[in-house]
Amino acid sequence: MPRFAFALHFRFTTFDVQREIIRYISSLLMATKQQKYETLHDLLLLKLGSLLDIEEQIVKALPKMAKAANHEKLREAFSAHLKETEGQVERLNEAFQKLGATAKKSKVEAIRGLAKDTEWVIKSLKNPAARDALLIASAQYVEHYEMAGYGTARQWAFDMGHNDVVELLHLTLDDEKAADTKLNDLAKSSINQKVESGME
Ligand SMILES: [Fe+2]
Repeated sequence: MPRFAFALHFRFTTFDVQREIIRYISSLLMATKQQKYETLHDLLLLKLGSLLDIEEQIVKALPKMAKAANHEKLREAFSAHLKETEGQVERLNEAFQKLGATAKKSKVEAIRGLAKDTEWVIKSLKNPAARDALLIASAQYVEHYEMAGYGTARQWAFDMGHNDVVELLHLTLDDEKAADTKLNDLAKSSINQKVESGME
């Protein structure tokens, strides 16, 4: 082989090898990056991570909601639920521990959308009673959204026999249901009539 042809062949081969090495390393990196969601256990960890993100977003939103609420009992309800929500974050971390996994959050766009809607209520509604009624409506959206998530996670934990995790998720599910009922009672007993009668 003439010398220049050999050099060309060698350079081409070296380039090919380099390209293959880069491709191989990239595929390895991709494989470690891409979590597989195939088993119920994988799905439960993913769901717990989503719930952790959701609860942390709620911890950020509730003080703003309490500040914007006009009715004293509504302010109290939001403040009380903030304390409960902080406890729910703890429970989720505990659930990860019981499953022998590291707590890992999964970003949930939906809760950010609900939080944005609530911020719109706070910013745009000037009538205090109407703002309270809509704050309750926003909070009830969130409670029901959470109930759906916890209900699914609890069922998966139950199906896999993780009874200690079922217990933790059940406690939070009860918190959310009670918070929803409290908000509904407050709307029925006082706030809705205030809006209807044009009181503030
Ligand atoms: Fe919650």
